[in-house]
Amino acid sequence: MPNKISNIYTCSNCDAQFSKWSGRCLECGAWSSLQMKTVELKKLKDQEIKVTPAEIIKFANIKAESSARLKTNIDEVDRVLGGGIMPGSIILISGEPGIGKSTIVAQIANAIAAGIDKSVIYVSGEESAGQIKERFNRLKINCQNLNFINEVNIEKTIAAAEQIKPALIIIDSIQTVYTSQIDSEPGSLNQIRGSASKLMELAKNHNPAVILVGHVTKDGLIAGPKSLEHIVDTVIYLETDNAKHFKILRATKNRFGSVNELGIFAMTGSGFKEVKNPGAIFLDMHRENLSGSILSSAMEGTRTFLIEIQALVTRTIFGYPQRKASGFDLNRLQILTAVLSKRTDINSSQKNINLANHDIILNVVGGLRVNDPALDLAVCLAITSSLLNQKMNNKTIALGEVGLGGEVRNVSKLDQRLKEAEKLGLATAIIPSAEIKTKKIKTIKVKNLSEAISLLLK
Ligand code: TYD
Ligand code: MG
Repeated sequence: MPNKISNIYTCSNCDAQFSKWSGRCLECGAWSSLQMKTVELKKLKDQEIKVTPAEIIKFANIKAESSARLKTNIDEVDRVLGGGIMPGSIILISGEPGIGKSTIVAQIANAIAAGIDKSVIYVSGEESAGQIKERFNRLKINCQNLNFINEVNIEKTIAAAEQIKPALIIIDSIQTVYTSQIDSEPGSLNQIRGSASKLMELAKNHNPAVILVGHVTKDGLIAGPKSLEHIVDTVIYLETDNAKHFKILRATKNRFGSVNELGIFAMTGSGFKEVKNPGAIFLDMHRENLSGSILSSAMEGTRTFLIEIQALVTRTIFGYPQRKASGFDLNRLQILTAVLSKRTDINSSQKNINLANHDIILNVVGGLRVNDPALDLAVCLAITSSLLNQKMNNKTIALGEVGLGGEVRNVSKLDQRLKEAEKLGLATAIIPSAEIKTKKIKTIKVKNLSEAISLLLK
């Protein structure tokens, strides 16, 4: 019996397949990208499947690979990467246009090329050699082992890399390169994936580390680099705090290190400069006592950052009460609001926490996005303080996770957080009842929300 023949329409941008033609791809939205292909639908039953079985190796006979990492000696970069760049690994650096990706990779390239016997290839399809040289001059980069390729064909780049065997290849950006084996525009999903897999082959065979630069918009709309995230070893985002004072390097995936580390930089006239002691950079140490504002600390990786939590609670004028959060998880805010309404019982003062007719706006000052349960207590206190219009001391820090029963629970690294608060001159800490070693800062231990709130009313 002959095999059935069928027509399918394949999108040249994203490889989606359809049974009917249309002017626009329903998956990626590209226009006029559907092309007809004829395929034979073979019956599996009729075929004889012959495979050679894969080789089975005993783990006992496998030697662990441990190659020395390439250190950039820029501490903030090395920390985010988990101690340096792993040879043979693929790193994706994403960020919005103009955020400083080309600048940071140029500085990384320079740092690696300064090592003995380490050459680096910088591939750019975006800017001309002259423009890049201009940036290098600005960054005071003058390194003999730094090579440049102004080419967008990835096969040519790979052939060149096979000749000089660099320690690091930088592709700025993955959206501008293309492989001649795939028949679609540079920047399309197919080309991005195709070029990346070519580079992965190179990394596997010759062991250079590869850094891919990818442009993404804030909402991740340009899906190209996003589609690479599961293929590459490390994904790093370069972003800025809301106040736009600092650039933050953040690993969201790392096969060779932890993912919570932040690298913090200031952009200067001559490139990125590390911010060495960033414990209080998001904080204004000279603020006044305000209602609705309290300090807390968030752990990002191994470091603590002191931050100010602000809440504004106002009467709802019309409709449902609003809950808004900036820098904090909105769901978490809603949970904490419910706990505050249900689990606080301050009979002695005849005041109830009733948030049913109030709008709540919560803000993490300084623009850091935080996600740390230790902030719960500070959020609850800020909301209550604003609701009751009770000013809080500007030298007080609150730490503690709040459970659904209104109980205040212990948090990770409590001692480390208290030490940092002490170092920055804070006087009092409201904390869960747990063992602590720190002696200098005055601590007030609270078991539940009611106890914490009664401190406000004193
Ligand atoms: P760039 O690295 O080109 O951003 P991206 O590659 O992410 O698009 O640089 C972005 C901005 O940084 C640009 O507006 C100029 C500025 N800049 C400095 O402030 N100082 C410097 O030393 C350099 C090189 C750039
Ligand atoms: Mg650039």
